[in-house]
Amino acid sequence: MTEKQLSELLQDMTVAEKAEQLVQLNGDFYGGEDFLTGPAAAFHLTDNKAYRLGSILGSDGAARLTKLQDEFIKEQPHHIPAMFMADVIHGYKTAFPVPIALGASFDPELVRETAETAAKEASAAGIHVTFSPMADLARDSRWGRCMESFGEDPCLNSKMTAAMVRGFQGENCGDKGRVASCFKHFAAYGAVQSGRDYNVAELSERTLFEDYLLAYEAAVNAGAEMAMTAFNTLDRIPCTISRKLLRDILRDKMGFEGVLISDYNAIGETVIHGAAEDSRDAAEKAINSGVDIDMMSDCYLNNLEELVKSGEVSESLLDEAVMRVLKLKNKLGLFENPYKDASEEEEKQLHCCREHMELSRKAAAECSVLLKNNGILPLRAKKIAVIGSLCESRDIVGSWAIFADNSKTVTLRAALEEVCSDIEFQFIPSDTPDEKAIAAAKSAEAVILALGEDQLGTGESRSRTDISLPEGQKRLFEEISAVNPNTVVLLFGGRPLAIPEIAEKAAAVMELWLPGTAGCLGAADILSGKASPSGRLSMSFPYCSGQLPLSYSAFNTGRPKDNGVKEFIPFLSNYMDAPNIPLYPFGFGLSYTSFEYSPIALDRDILTADGGITASVRVKNTGDRAGKEVVQLYIRDVKGSVVRPLRELKAFKKISLAPGEEQTVSFEITEKMLRFYDINMDHTAEKGSFILYIGPDSTTENRTEFRLV
Ligand code: GLC
Repeated sequence: MTEKQLSELLQDMTVAEKAEQLVQLNGDFYGGEDFLTGPAAAFHLTDNKAYRLGSILGSDGAARLTKLQDEFIKEQPHHIPAMFMADVIHGYKTAFPVPIALGASFDPELVRETAETAAKEASAAGIHVTFSPMADLARDSRWGRCMESFGEDPCLNSKMTAAMVRGFQGENCGDKGRVASCFKHFAAYGAVQSGRDYNVAELSERTLFEDYLLAYEAAVNAGAEMAMTAFNTLDRIPCTISRKLLRDILRDKMGFEGVLISDYNAIGETVIHGAAEDSRDAAEKAINSGVDIDMMSDCYLNNLEELVKSGEVSESLLDEAVMRVLKLKNKLGLFENPYKDASEEEEKQLHCCREHMELSRKAAAECSVLLKNNGILPLRAKKIAVIGSLCESRDIVGSWAIFADNSKTVTLRAALEEVCSDIEFQFIPSDTPDEKAIAAAKSAEAVILALGEDQLGTGESRSRTDISLPEGQKRLFEEISAVNPNTVVLLFGGRPLAIPEIAEKAAAVMELWLPGTAGCLGAADILSGKASPSGRLSMSFPYCSGQLPLSYSAFNTGRPKDNGVKEFIPFLSNYMDAPNIPLYPFGFGLSYTSFEYSPIALDRDILTADGGITASVRVKNTGDRAGKEVVQLYIRDVKGSVVRPLRELKAFKKISLAPGEEQTVSFEITEKMLRFYDINMDHTAEKGSFILYIGPDSTTENRTEFRLV
């Protein structure tokens, strides 16, 4: 449709129709046996009103959605098609590694490719919009949703978020095989106090702008068609009814022109927060704050029409919201083809097809992080005991992989048997050091212990006060490693876990995260040496929960302690019972080879506002195996009108090197890279000295200096 036709359609709609376009319910309201007595009754829904609403969430399948669309078009007075939205977070039928793992790949192109593949599968199933990427910065691994984030760093988070948006949408979300991307959760949901899900978030405005908003802005700049509000409060105002956040920052400052949807019943929950009198008051506050679609609450459904007819909400404000929804339907091409790409035939061809499973396998290999290796990996042992219930679990694809075909999930056991067929394995899927496990460990040349969290132990509403391993797993490790020192720990999970005892005693430790449908094959490729580990930590691994929240991008304080020193030093900023530094730092990861960095070369050491500095290092593979290295560039602003972090990631490049090969890696340093929110909250760079680091992780001391004049 043309803009003119859309305007004419809008003008021809009644207030009731307009309000209905701004309501989204889930599949329970459509055709379930308790249609009118169950959820529908709770929402005072008349029999067919549900089929006049603007969109639904959580349903999928070409056949089901085609049939549903026919009913929407028939029932809606102007035959406006519905939008079908779903949580396709990191894959649809073929699950890819969870986002915290994708962040650890440090490979935006890989992330884009996984999103593009997910979009092909989802759009064939009739889905038009995905509620992904989650762009929330996460620095507290007590929060279960670290699993869905790209980690602790704004630069990494921004690049991965933008890559995922581009993967889902391509050039135009209406193209075949594409879906519209809805980034979330705006804003700073990852900063919930104490890591407790849905809790308040208390951030200074400067920290909000400096660290937490960057990735959302990257999503806007990548052209994301939708945004979702966050459950938490910011500055003691529920994000979902914060005009300052949603209108002043998201729309006016960031320039977002897409559709803004609430999170699940988040408008209704503003009453429970104590920031709205009742659902009518909540509806009025939300529409005035710029929330276009009310997901799964009855606030807009039962109040918006009356609010407009009474004049308390202007019809022009209603029209503004409805026009954004109609424009998105138009971009998706739904007025011309309301079924978009829905095709039962294509579903059969695409879902978990060989190509997609290969990508899931490859992605898991790129996301796995080798944290320790005394040389036992790649495996040379020919008789190995594999112990731990996770070795046969299928619950390793992530709690949001709700559409994944779990019958296709490759377990660690199946992967090892397929890839390492020359090894004699004994599998003991037990988490207790029983006689059988101990005997197997004693008689084996080496042991693989599958430990950590499955998908039920991490994700939404899975916050923990203690991120160490369960006592049983700790005991299993102690007793198995005591009888066989050649113990390799494979760690599953969606967040950094506190594993100091394992780090000390295991022969090797590899983080697999929740690797996805074919992810264990990727892990087996690494264990066998068919692939080299190249993941780098997207979040710091703390020694203990007490260090949280934790980030490498910390501040010096007025009483800094030398971070290399672990013991307590009175009257310095440290703990009596734990080091300041993490067990494993952000950006860290081992390879099967070794890399050497030359000192940093600068083409000049004075930077001007309109100039640039080229910083280069030569990186050499000094080992005897090919490998990939993530070359990371950090900058420290030595003095500012406000305190500045000790270092901030500004760029990274993942390179492949054959044994003995050397490559020069260059980065362009610009004044824009140095900008921050100064004492007046102006986003500007301040003249002075800067330290530049280029190395393998956030602790590198390969450094040089330059000045901004
Ligand atoms: C959930 C999540 C959100 C998701 C939405 C729809 O509660 O917070 O990330 O997209 O509901 O399922």
